[in-house]
Amino acid sequence: MAEELTDPAEGFAPLRIRRVVRETADAVSLVLDVPECCSHRFQYKAGQFLTLRVSVGGRDLRRCYSMSSAPVEDELRITVKRDPGGVVSNWINDTAAAGDELHAAPPEGRFTLTESDSSPRELVAFAGGSGITPIMSLVRAALAGSDRTVKLFYANRGRDSVIFSEPLARLAEQHADRLTVEHHYDEDAGVVTASAVESFAARVGDADFYVCGPTPFMDTVETALLGAGVPKQRLHLERFTVAAAPDTVTDGDAQACEEVVIELQRQKVTAAYRQGDTLLQTARLQGLKAPSSCETGSCGTCMARIVEGSARMLNNDALEPDEVEEGWVVTCQALPTSSKVHMIYE
Ligand SMILES: Cc1cc2nc3c(=O)[nH]c(=O)nc-3n(C[C@H](O)[C@H](O)[C@H](O)COP(=O)(O)OP(=O)(O)OC[C@H]3O[C@@H](n4cnc5c(N)ncnc54)[C@H](O)[C@@H]3O)c2cc1C
Ligand code: FES
Repeated sequence: MAEELTDPAEGFAPLRIRRVVRETADAVSLVLDVPECCSHRFQYKAGQFLTLRVSVGGRDLRRCYSMSSAPVEDELRITVKRDPGGVVSNWINDTAAAGDELHAAPPEGRFTLTESDSSPRELVAFAGGSGITPIMSLVRAALAGSDRTVKLFYANRGRDSVIFSEPLARLAEQHADRLTVEHHYDEDAGVVTASAVESFAARVGDADFYVCGPTPFMDTVETALLGAGVPKQRLHLERFTVAAAPDTVTDGDAQACEEVVIELQRQKVTAAYRQGDTLLQTARLQGLKAPSSCETGSCGTCMARIVEGSARMLNNDALEPDEVEEGWVVTCQALPTSSKVHMIYE
């Protein structure tokens, strides 16, 4: 599988780390050089992400990381915050060094600026922790490429964990008439509440809203904004993780399946199949901590190989046709189409 994915003409490409910037004790930015042959495929919109494929402890893993740079800048940069107990984020924070090579799939994602009409709407962003990454990209792009005013609400546990503290202060100084940044510190004010969100939103006019951060933060902001009358189409959400398994999917193909055998790390579990569930949901119902990330079929984090039986994917933006041919599926999107399915996470 690795062979064709490193082909610079297709899929993943080797990017070289030009520079490592320590942002906080828990977060690092990587400035990446794209080989000339692939540069056209790595053009991106502010707010998009790369999927990295790394090998850690002999395991091939894929994770998504948003650009914290904007296309107007002359460098492509991602910013990675440690996830306690997380494999890839800690590996990057501990080992990434200038000159190293990382394999990345070209930018993807819909958390991007909307084209505005002749009187551009305000851009209002709510970021929590590492959720600042794509928002930083959006903020930079909006300030550089339009006349929009930008209001940023940025929540962190404490002052030590603020990523981009200085760059944000500089931007606010340079664009004093257009950018306001309000920091929220849990250590002072407790976690962000709906009323904090509402009072921030009450100070804005006609706006597009962008939200990225930990799930509870996003849920609070989303509920508060919708409750305050923000139309759904003006609300843009980027979820780094999905906390709960989504509701079951109804699909005629799935009814034939009775049993799913799942191999994950050193565990092998046989599950009775519940109609409509994806393979990822089936694994979770067994209490397995199955890998996942975007849950939209974009990143490949949840991939597993079917060694017996078959499944079809509702969406696949991650796997190459030959990987699918080999039996790989993105389990977050896969519904069984045979009476028994045996899948292996590798
Ligand atoms: C579109 C998108 C964009 C993203 N952009 C960014 C970004 O810009 N910056 C950023 O930092 N992150 C970003 N992420 C998140 C990133 O992709 C990873 O999910 C994150 O770095 C965690 O990966 P990991 O390998 O470190 O953690 P994982 O190893 O995947 O672990 C995740 C969590 O699960 C827990 N866990 C793992 N295995 C077990 C187990 N067996 N039992 C119990 N608990 C377990 C870990 O403790 C950890 O808390 C983005 C995600 C998406 C989908
Ligand atoms: S979790 Fe991203 S493709 Fe399934």
